[in-house]
Amino acid sequence: MRFGHFDDGKREYVINQPNTPLPWINYLGCEAYFGFISNTAGGYSFYRDARLRRLTRYRYNQAPFDVGGRYLYLRDNDTGEFWSPSWQPTRTKLDQYECRHGMGYTIIGSSHKKIEAWTCYFVPLGETLEIWKFSVTNRRKKPAKLSVFSSIEFCLWDAQDDATNFQRNFSTGQVEVVDEVIYHKTEYRERRNHFAYFACSEKLAGFDTQRDTFLGACRGWDNPAAVERGKSFNSVAHGWAPHGSHHVKVNLKPGESKEIIFVLGYHENPVDQKFDPPDSQTVNKQTVKPVIAKYLDGQSVTAAFEKLRRYWGNLLGIYQVQSPDVHVNRMVNIWNACQCMATFNLSRSASFYESGIGRGLGFRDSNQDLLGFVHMVPCRARERILDLSATQLKTGGAFHQYQPLTKRGNHDLGSNFNDDPHWLIIGVSAYIKETGDWGILDERVQFENEAGSEQPLYEHLRRSFNYTLERLGPHGLPLIGRADWNDCLNLNCFSNTPGQSFQTTTNKDGKVAESVFIAGLFVLAAKELAKIATRRGLKKDADRCLAEAARMEEVILKHGWDGAWFVRAYDDFGKPIGSKVCDEGKIFIESQGMCIMAGVGLKDGKARLALESVNKHLATRHGIVLQQPAFSKYYIHLGEISSYPPGYKENASIFCHNNPWIIIAETMVGDGNRAFDYYTRINPSARENIGEVHRCEPYVFAQMIAGKDAPTHGEAKNSWLTGTAAWTYFTVTQWILGIRTEYDGLRVDPVIPAKWKGFTVTRRFRGNTYVIEVKNPKGKQRGVKKLRVDGKEIAGNLLPACPSRSEPIRVEAVLGG
Ligand code: GLC
Ligand code: GLC
Repeated sequence: MRFGHFDDGKREYVINQPNTPLPWINYLGCEAYFGFISNTAGGYSFYRDARLRRLTRYRYNQAPFDVGGRYLYLRDNDTGEFWSPSWQPTRTKLDQYECRHGMGYTIIGSSHKKIEAWTCYFVPLGETLEIWKFSVTNRRKKPAKLSVFSSIEFCLWDAQDDATNFQRNFSTGQVEVVDEVIYHKTEYRERRNHFAYFACSEKLAGFDTQRDTFLGACRGWDNPAAVERGKSFNSVAHGWAPHGSHHVKVNLKPGESKEIIFVLGYHENPVDQKFDPPDSQTVNKQTVKPVIAKYLDGQSVTAAFEKLRRYWGNLLGIYQVQSPDVHVNRMVNIWNACQCMATFNLSRSASFYESGIGRGLGFRDSNQDLLGFVHMVPCRARERILDLSATQLKTGGAFHQYQPLTKRGNHDLGSNFNDDPHWLIIGVSAYIKETGDWGILDERVQFENEAGSEQPLYEHLRRSFNYTLERLGPHGLPLIGRADWNDCLNLNCFSNTPGQSFQTTTNKDGKVAESVFIAGLFVLAAKELAKIATRRGLKKDADRCLAEAARMEEVILKHGWDGAWFVRAYDDFGKPIGSKVCDEGKIFIESQGMCIMAGVGLKDGKARLALESVNKHLATRHGIVLQQPAFSKYYIHLGEISSYPPGYKENASIFCHNNPWIIIAETMVGDGNRAFDYYTRINPSARENIGEVHRCEPYVFAQMIAGKDAPTHGEAKNSWLTGTAAWTYFTVTQWILGIRTEYDGLRVDPVIPAKWKGFTVTRRFRGNTYVIEVKNPKGKQRGVKKLRVDGKEIAGNLLPACPSRSEPIRVEAVLGG
């Protein structure tokens, strides 16, 4: 069952019924001001940090689900009837409804009793504000007398405090209303120099800034007193819940339209210019007035919207494919790239599943997110790499997370997730492969954000590498620490106390439990570091990396091979996890994917054998589950993984994040049919027809799909902010379509379904545009036999980076001779 459809030409997903199984959201903003918006206008906004600079309120996990948003009400002043043109919050039956989620904007339109209304929400580039461009048209045969009410609830900045500290919050709220602008200035009188504002382009019939006056006693958003009676109260908030509502009267002749612009924004004043006059307590508005005036003007709004459209057109133009598969095309060309932008910006902070107060930016997460983002805005990737590496510890370890506003490591969580350091090598190598910017390795970066500790970035990578060698366990495999990629495999935790964090509780000394996954990751990272060192002329370093990688491979083959697949780990008793000797959790996905990606077992057939085992034991029609058999009970020595009911999350769900590892592994052994099949199973667009099962948005990947042990097998959860975004994008673009960035150029190495006759990729890379046409006349799955560049045949399948030119470089690749 479908709830909408793709409009690929416009790069939009069109939802045509408001009650989707879950709120289907989109993101606004791509630089510093962000928000998410559901298909019925729910959601909230923040500046940089969803916890510390929350602008508006939203109530997670409410009934109905999606409460709090960018609401508008229309009222027919002749009849007194009122409704929400975005359906929520009044949920009046609409004659027509449509939501168009696009790249950085959302348009919601509806028609009720021949009053048509459209609202376009977006964040202009370079600004810290959002626009709601609202237009209403009278399609009746007689004049309509209407009222429009806007409504948002301000958050008192720190979202955690806002949701808990009511003894204080109910007394601190402050606003100012001047002309058509409502200023929210709670705590501005003391240590803050920022405020929010909510402006309207029209002359107001009234306003409200006290939520409970606007709503009236015992009423909700579906029935506000001000809207019902058709007149604002002109309330001024003193404490309680500061709110922003404008009331505008609109009289429309038949066929007539009216446009109203609302601007919601965030503004900072210089600390010594907070007040105007200086000795008053009145917010200095001189600094913000020009920007408000600019965006209350329809022409500027249109121009800003066009600019945003062009910006995205340009970003997406960096990699475009035309393949025989519509799901590949729209995910690669549009939505997966868009999702990668969101994960780069927001990591795992603010979505429908992430409350915006739980987490900062993860070290491993952000490094992996680069894989899908680096080609879009390389300079921002560079900045992120330097920020991340500045939180690295001197030991080579890493703070597991940092707060984007302060860029400091999070001490509550600390470090000792022993996979973390290697992801920095993976992130940096992806950046260099894309850009050829070797200079980044010479950037001097602090350790632990400590002045004076600066070392070249290259030294950070060396310490990442050494970190593992200094922490080997009894089998010579890397010690796991608090967890590796699988946050829930907590082998040193042994928690028997409810409420204890599995991630920070450590009851064992950590000297026994080892991770085969980290061993694989180490090999992968060491091989990358060797290539980097070689190109820097550091032969000794390169040799050492390769020698250690080879040694680790041997250890994996000796202690990490179970006969038909790779073992997952060794527990604190020195017993294997992910082995045929286990009762449950006999085979895990992570070590299969990572070891093969690192090249382990490629030569001696072990890789193929492991992939057969994955196919036999882990693959389902909805994707590949994380392990089998699922843990049926809590195992104290395994930790959080066994805390989830079977089939959910890390306990044997289809944890989509690492399905691409298997897909890459399949391409490495040359099985294009199977790689593509696995890719399609989790591709949300390909799942659009089973919307009632999948339930999440069909335009973005989800973190997990309930596994075969779950009663709701096939149901997706945690959409948008997941490592799945970057990994699926990276996998399909670089390994299936096979247009792969390498240090010295672009590799052309597709591994595709035999039935594909070919495809074309347009790729902008290091100053050139490549138009690469791949032909598959013999129905092969891999193997470029002929490569012509501008008509001339070249040997091999690498397109060496070359000086930029204005004409595209035309490439023809023929598979199978
Ligand atoms: C979540 C975390 C990520 C972790 C994964 C598996 O996606 O953000 O860091 O690797 O879960 O536990
Ligand atoms: C929980 C989640 C896991 C996530 C972790 C982040 O353990 O199950 O997916 O990585 O929290 O701390």
